[in-house]
Amino acid sequence: METSLKNKKILITAGPTREYIDPVRFISNESSGKMGYAIAEALHQMGADVILISGPVSITSSFPKNKIVSVMSGNQMYEACQKHFENIDVAIFCAAVADYKAKNTSVIKIKKIENETTLELEKNVDIAFEFGKVKTENQKSVGFALETNNIHENAVDKLKKKNFDLIVVNSPNVNEGFGYDTNKITIVDKNLSLFSFPLKNKKEVALDILTHLKNSYNIIEEE
Ligand code: PMT
Repeated sequence: METSLKNKKILITAGPTREYIDPVRFISNESSGKMGYAIAEALHQMGADVILISGPVSITSSFPKNKIVSVMSGNQMYEACQKHFENIDVAIFCAAVADYKAKNTSVIKIKKIENETTLELEKNVDIAFEFGKVKTENQKSVGFALETNNIHENAVDKLKKKNFDLIVVNSPNVNEGFGYDTNKITIVDKNLSLFSFPLKNKKEVALDILTHLKNSYNIIEEE
């Protein structure tokens, strides 16, 4: 793709978050970070100034380590993002942030008890929603949605609620979504038009998303 992104500041969230219950147990999900890192690598190669806010992942990447802010929890990811919100041109929210966290956490390992126990959960901060409230006319945002059913309806709801300019929908099927090197996406834009793509390598998927962003919002300058 003959495209320059010089002078564009782009924030990407990637990977899972971990919400610790005690020092050895946490709530999380299976995000590997592959999709978010593929987008970060593609943008970096196009000359963008990319800041990658990453949850705990164990993948190898060509993306420069000094441009990665490593975090663990949703709150830490939010705090890291907040530092950049004001100055970015585009935010791409690819992370699978845990929706809930333990209401009470323990600094020591919780003892096993004989009977059933319950874990009280509370909502985690919604980073994309918070950015959607403060973003300006000139700032664009891309969201992701991992959906199993009512795909279009759910994606449109998230697009509107979080004030995204585009939302990328994927599913947790074999070879798609979590963990795989490949993904199958549908992009929904602000006009609620749908663009479906075949199964591709995540590097190619990243380019499809960035091409769509460029064509829709003229955010990316051709050289
Ligand atoms: O990392 P991989 O293994 O490559 O897998 C990639 C992926 C499946 C994780 C990725 O493609 C993806 O779908 N990421 C978003 C998954 C998700 O959490 O979707 P959601 O529908 O719960 O969230 C909607 C949007 O809000 C997302 O852009 C998410 O980053 C954002 N969000 C959600 C919750 C929250 N507390 N804060 C957020 O910013």
